[in-house]
Amino acid sequence: MKPLQFIAGAAIALAAIQLVPYGRDHSNPPVTGEPKWDSARTSELFGRACKDCHSNNTVWPWYSSVAPVSWLTQFDVSLGREAFNVSEWGRTTGENEGDKAAGEVREGKMPPFIYLPAHPAAKLTAEEKVELANGLAATFGEKKAGGQKGTAKEGEKGEGKRKDGDNDKD
Ligand code: HEC
Repeated sequence: MKPLQFIAGAAIALAAIQLVPYGRDHSNPPVTGEPKWDSARTSELFGRACKDCHSNNTVWPWYSSVAPVSWLTQFDVSLGREAFNVSEWGRTTGENEGDKAAGEVREGKMPPFIYLPAHPAAKLTAEEKVELANGLAATFGEKKAGGQKGTAKEGEKGEGKRKDGDNDKD
Protein backbone atom coordinates (compact mmCIF):
# COMPACT_ATOMS: atom_id res chain seq x y z
CA MET A 1 0.00 0.00 0.00
CA LYS A 2 1.32 3.42 -0.89
CA PRO A 3 1.67 5.95 1.93
CA LEU A 4 -1.04 8.16 0.52
CA GLN A 5 -3.45 5.26 0.28
CA PHE A 6 -2.67 4.39 3.86
CA ILE A 7 -3.36 7.90 5.09
CA ALA A 8 -6.61 8.05 3.14
CA GLY A 9 -7.62 4.67 4.54
CA ALA A 10 -6.83 5.72 8.10
CA ALA A 11 -8.79 8.96 7.67
CA ILE A 12 -11.81 7.06 6.39
CA ALA A 13 -11.58 4.58 9.26
CA LEU A 14 -11.32 7.40 11.78
CA ALA A 15 -14.34 9.12 10.24
CA ALA A 16 -16.28 5.87 10.22
CA ILE A 17 -15.76 5.08 13.89
CA GLN A 18 -17.22 8.48 14.79
CA LEU A 19 -20.58 7.02 13.77
CA VAL A 20 -20.57 4.51 16.63
CA PRO A 21 -23.12 5.91 19.08
CA TYR A 22 -21.35 4.67 22.24
CA GLY A 23 -19.59 7.41 24.17
CA ARG A 24 -21.59 10.39 22.96
CA ASP A 25 -24.03 10.60 25.79
CA HIS A 26 -22.19 13.04 28.00
CA SER A 27 -24.87 13.32 30.57
CA ASN A 28 -24.32 14.61 34.06
CA PRO A 29 -27.28 13.20 35.98
CA PRO A 30 -28.70 15.28 38.83
CA VAL A 31 -26.92 15.34 42.17
CA THR A 32 -29.15 13.42 44.58
CA GLY A 33 -26.96 13.37 47.66
CA GLU A 34 -23.52 14.34 48.83
CA PRO A 35 -21.30 13.00 51.58
CA LYS A 36 -20.46 15.11 54.58
CA TRP A 37 -16.84 15.89 53.77
CA ASP A 38 -14.55 16.03 56.78
CA SER A 39 -12.99 19.23 55.37
CA ALA A 40 -13.12 21.56 52.40
CA ARG A 41 -9.58 20.46 51.58
CA THR A 42 -10.62 16.83 51.07
CA SER A 43 -13.43 17.92 48.80
CA GLU A 44 -11.02 20.15 46.86
CA LEU A 45 -8.45 17.40 46.33
CA PHE A 46 -11.21 14.99 45.37
CA GLY A 47 -12.42 17.58 42.89
CA ARG A 48 -8.99 17.71 41.31
CA ALA A 49 -8.21 14.01 41.15
CA CYS A 50 -11.42 12.00 41.32
CA LYS A 51 -14.63 13.84 40.52
CA ASP A 52 -14.56 13.39 36.73
CA CYS A 53 -15.19 9.67 37.20
CA HIS A 54 -16.78 9.53 40.65
CA SER A 55 -19.40 12.28 40.60
CA ASN A 56 -22.11 13.60 38.33
CA ASN A 57 -20.11 16.80 37.82
CA THR A 58 -17.90 15.38 35.10
CA VAL A 59 -16.04 17.82 32.90
CA TRP A 60 -16.23 16.44 29.36
CA PRO A 61 -13.37 17.90 27.29
CA TRP A 62 -13.70 18.16 23.49
CA TYR A 63 -11.60 15.07 22.85
CA SER A 64 -14.03 13.04 24.93
CA SER A 65 -16.32 13.40 21.92
CA VAL A 66 -13.83 11.91 19.48
CA ALA A 67 -13.70 8.14 19.04
CA PRO A 68 -11.87 6.09 20.15
CA VAL A 69 -11.01 8.33 23.14
CA SER A 70 -14.73 8.86 23.71
CA TRP A 71 -15.22 5.12 24.22
CA LEU A 72 -12.55 4.93 26.88
CA THR A 73 -13.85 8.05 28.61
CA GLN A 74 -17.42 6.80 28.64
CA PHE A 75 -16.32 3.43 29.93
CA ASP A 76 -14.26 4.94 32.76
CA VAL A 77 -16.96 7.35 33.84
CA SER A 78 -19.73 4.75 33.72
CA LEU A 79 -17.75 2.18 35.66
CA GLY A 80 -16.34 4.75 38.04
CA ARG A 81 -19.77 6.18 38.88
CA GLU A 82 -21.14 2.71 39.33
CA ALA A 83 -18.53 1.79 41.92
CA PHE A 84 -18.37 5.07 43.80
CA ASN A 85 -20.34 8.25 43.17
CA VAL A 86 -20.25 11.16 45.60
CA SER A 87 -23.15 12.84 43.78
CA GLU A 88 -25.44 9.95 44.60
CA TRP A 89 -24.40 9.48 48.17
CA GLY A 90 -27.14 7.59 49.98
CA ARG A 91 -28.39 5.86 46.84
CA THR A 92 -30.03 2.56 47.55
CA THR A 93 -29.20 0.76 44.33
CA GLY A 94 -25.85 -0.91 43.82
CA GLU A 95 -22.84 -0.02 45.87
CA ASN A 96 -20.92 3.10 46.74
CA GLU A 97 -17.49 2.09 47.85
CA GLY A 98 -16.45 5.09 49.91
CA ASP A 99 -14.62 3.00 52.45
CA LYS A 100 -12.22 1.77 49.79
CA ALA A 101 -11.35 5.25 48.55
CA ALA A 102 -8.51 5.97 51.00
CA GLY A 103 -6.89 2.62 50.23
CA GLU A 104 -7.10 3.20 46.49
CA VAL A 105 -5.17 6.45 46.91
CA ARG A 106 -2.64 4.99 49.34
CA GLU A 107 -1.92 2.16 46.93
CA GLY A 108 -1.60 4.51 44.00
CA LYS A 109 -4.41 2.79 42.09
CA MET A 110 -6.57 5.90 41.81
CA PRO A 111 -6.62 8.12 39.89
CA PRO A 112 -5.81 5.73 37.00
CA PHE A 113 -2.46 6.57 35.37
CA ILE A 114 -4.08 6.89 31.95
CA TYR A 115 -6.08 9.88 33.21
CA LEU A 116 -3.05 11.89 34.29
CA PRO A 117 -1.34 13.12 31.10
CA ALA A 118 -4.44 15.08 30.07
CA HIS A 119 -5.25 16.17 33.65
CA PRO A 120 -2.14 17.61 35.28
CA ALA A 121 -4.15 18.99 38.21
CA ALA A 122 -4.96 15.42 39.18
CA LYS A 123 -1.29 14.62 39.64
CA LEU A 124 -1.03 14.94 43.40
CA THR A 125 2.21 15.40 45.29
CA ALA A 126 3.16 12.83 47.91
CA GLU A 127 1.89 15.16 50.65
CA GLU A 128 -1.36 15.81 48.84
CA LYS A 129 -1.90 12.07 48.46
CA VAL A 130 -1.50 11.56 52.19
CA GLU A 131 -3.83 14.49 52.85
CA LEU A 132 -6.46 13.14 50.47
CA ALA A 133 -6.21 9.57 51.76
CA ASN A 134 -6.55 10.71 55.37
CA GLY A 135 -9.44 12.97 54.43
CA LEU A 136 -11.19 10.17 52.57
CA ALA A 137 -10.72 7.86 55.54
CA ALA A 138 -12.14 10.53 57.86
CA THR A 139 -15.12 11.08 55.56
CA PHE A 140 -15.96 7.52 54.52
CA GLY A 141 -14.17 5.29 56.99
CA GLU A 142 -11.57 2.85 55.82
CA LYS A 143 -11.94 -0.82 55.21
CA LYS A 144 -9.10 -2.57 56.94
CA ALA A 145 -9.71 -5.99 55.39
CA GLY A 146 -6.82 -7.38 53.38
CA GLY A 147 -9.05 -7.55 50.35
CA GLN A 148 -7.20 -5.06 48.21
CA LYS A 149 -5.31 -7.42 45.97
CA GLY A 150 -6.07 -9.70 43.05
CA THR A 151 -8.08 -12.74 43.96
CA ALA A 152 -9.12 -11.44 47.34
CA LYS A 153 -11.16 -8.84 45.50
CA GLU A 154 -13.29 -11.49 43.85
CA GLY A 155 -14.06 -13.01 47.22
CA GLU A 156 -15.16 -9.66 48.54
CA LYS A 157 -17.91 -9.37 45.98
CA GLY A 158 -19.78 -12.27 47.53
CA GLU A 159 -19.49 -10.84 50.99
CA GLY A 160 -23.00 -10.52 52.30
CA LYS A 161 -22.51 -7.88 54.90
CA ARG A 162 -21.20 -4.45 54.08
CA LYS A 163 -19.17 -2.39 56.45
CA ASP A 164 -19.58 1.21 57.52
CA GLY A 165 -18.85 3.63 54.78
CA ASP A 166 -20.89 1.81 52.22
CA ASN A 167 -24.02 3.78 52.05
CA ASP A 168 -26.64 1.06 51.86
CA LYS A 169 -29.47 1.92 54.17
CA ASP A 170 -30.12 -0.97 56.46
C1 HEC B 1 -10.42 8.34 34.75
C2 HEC B 1 -11.48 7.95 35.65
C3 HEC B 1 -11.19 7.78 37.13
C4 HEC B 1 -10.62 8.68 38.01
C5 HEC B 1 -10.10 10.06 37.70
C6 HEC B 1 -10.67 8.06 39.30
N1 HEC B 1 -11.23 6.82 39.21
FE1 HEC B 1 -11.69 5.58 40.76
N2 HEC B 1 -12.45 4.19 39.45
C7 HEC B 1 -12.51 4.34 38.09
C8 HEC B 1 -13.07 3.14 37.49
C9 HEC B 1 -13.27 2.90 36.00
C10 HEC B 1 -13.36 2.27 38.56
C11 HEC B 1 -13.97 0.88 38.51
C12 HEC B 1 -13.05 -0.15 38.02
C13 HEC B 1 -11.92 -0.40 38.95
O1 HEC B 1 -12.12 -0.77 40.12
O2 HEC B 1 -10.76 -0.25 38.50
C14 HEC B 1 -12.96 2.95 39.77
C15 HEC B 1 -13.10 2.42 41.04
C16 HEC B 1 -12.88 3.13 42.21
C17 HEC B 1 -13.24 2.66 43.53
C18 HEC B 1 -13.88 1.32 43.86
C19 HEC B 1 -12.81 0.29 43.99
C20 HEC B 1 -13.34 -1.10 44.21
O3 HEC B 1 -12.51 -1.98 44.46
O4 HEC B 1 -14.55 -1.32 44.13
C21 HEC B 1 -12.85 3.62 44.42
C22 HEC B 1 -13.02 3.59 45.92
C23 HEC B 1 -12.24 4.70 43.64
N3 HEC B 1 -12.28 4.36 42.30
C24 HEC B 1 -11.70 5.84 44.17
C25 HEC B 1 -11.12 6.86 43.43
C26 HEC B 1 -10.47 8.02 44.02
C27 HEC B 1 -10.37 8.28 45.51
C28 HEC B 1 -10.02 8.79 42.99
C29 HEC B 1 -9.23 10.07 43.08
C30 HEC B 1 -8.02 10.02 43.81
C31 HEC B 1 -10.40 8.13 41.75
N4 HEC B 1 -11.03 6.96 42.06
C32 HEC B 1 -10.17 8.63 40.46
C33 HEC B 1 -12.14 5.47 37.37
C34 HEC B 1 -11.57 6.61 37.90
